[in-house]
Amino acid sequence: MKKTVLLAAVLLAAACAPKEPALKDVFKGKFILGAAVNAGQIRETDAKGDSVLFRHFGAIEPENCLKSMEIMPVFGQYDWTLADQYVSFGQQHGLDVFGHCLIWHSQLTPDFCYDKDGNLVTPEVLKERMKQHITTVVTRYKGRIKGWDVVNEAIMEDGSYRNSLFYQILGEEFIPWAFQCAHEADPDCELYYNDYSMHEPAKLETVLALAKKLQERGIRIDALGFQAHLGMDYPDLDLYESFIRRVKDETGLDVCITELDMSILPTITRSADVSMTRADWEHVLNPWPDGIPAEVQEAWNARMGAFLDMFLRNADVIRRVNVWGVSDGDSWKNGWPIPGRQDAALWIGRDYQLKPFLEKYVR
Ligand code: GLA
Repeated sequence: MKKTVLLAAVLLAAACAPKEPALKDVFKGKFILGAAVNAGQIRETDAKGDSVLFRHFGAIEPENCLKSMEIMPVFGQYDWTLADQYVSFGQQHGLDVFGHCLIWHSQLTPDFCYDKDGNLVTPEVLKERMKQHITTVVTRYKGRIKGWDVVNEAIMEDGSYRNSLFYQILGEEFIPWAFQCAHEADPDCELYYNDYSMHEPAKLETVLALAKKLQERGIRIDALGFQAHLGMDYPDLDLYESFIRRVKDETGLDVCITELDMSILPTITRSADVSMTRADWEHVLNPWPDGIPAEVQEAWNARMGAFLDMFLRNADVIRRVNVWGVSDGDSWKNGWPIPGRQDAALWIGRDYQLKPFLEKYVR
């Protein structure tokens, strides 16, 4: 009997104990905190993922379900099932809903840029198709999606334009055209250009020139998306910070940190040593298959914490920080660049607990 009473008292105390504050509330007034969601979270089959999402995040981006190949497997033929669920899910749970992405060379509808004979379409046809796709999608979610990544990953690290099908057919003009179509479809929607490795100097130069070109022509652009797929040894934090500030100083635009993760495992290029066997290579990329050493986890927490402090220091420029996945098990980094790794790249672990670097903010 005594034991039962004691247990009840312990449970009651636990229930009444003050909960840690939610991250989205801690950072309110600084930036919106979002997370990318996958199909399980959208369909609400991932109860644990959803519960931590609702508790700590105020916004969502879809990891895949709005990409052209997903929403439109054949040009002009849409399957809205998951995309509609995504937008309704966000609204039902009071989350700000963002769109990713309208025009991207990858995960692209296979026949977007080809005619029925398999030849590239003419510039006029591609402009028309882009307008049709962008107008259809943006109009469908008008007033419900707060901001769109209009163009994703069009500029290379050396500052040149990516030789995508869009570029091959329309040259640089495909980008202003995409923004113009998106703005006409929903004049109140925020519009972003989004890319990775924004710490590469030549790349940033071209992206800034692109932003200025849009501004000079009076075409709406609200912010630049820094994907922020970080590693333990890249990019340099001070350089990253200075580039975030340059965006504001040189264009007046804000920055969104759109796809934040930090691989705790090595990411290196294979060109280093051609004599390496596959097994050597896998060992280099997955050095701790039985568990990540404590000192490596501490170093990760220190580095992610330093980036978060930097984002907070620059909250006058950064309007949104979006982590690329809810918890570690969801991250694309688990399967890249080799399958079968267990990375730990996100803010919430496989146990659905906040990582230690966040403790000082929620205490
Ligand atoms: C890019 C895209 C994202 C995602 C990641 C890898 O960063 O913008 O949508 O596909 O690659 O998962």
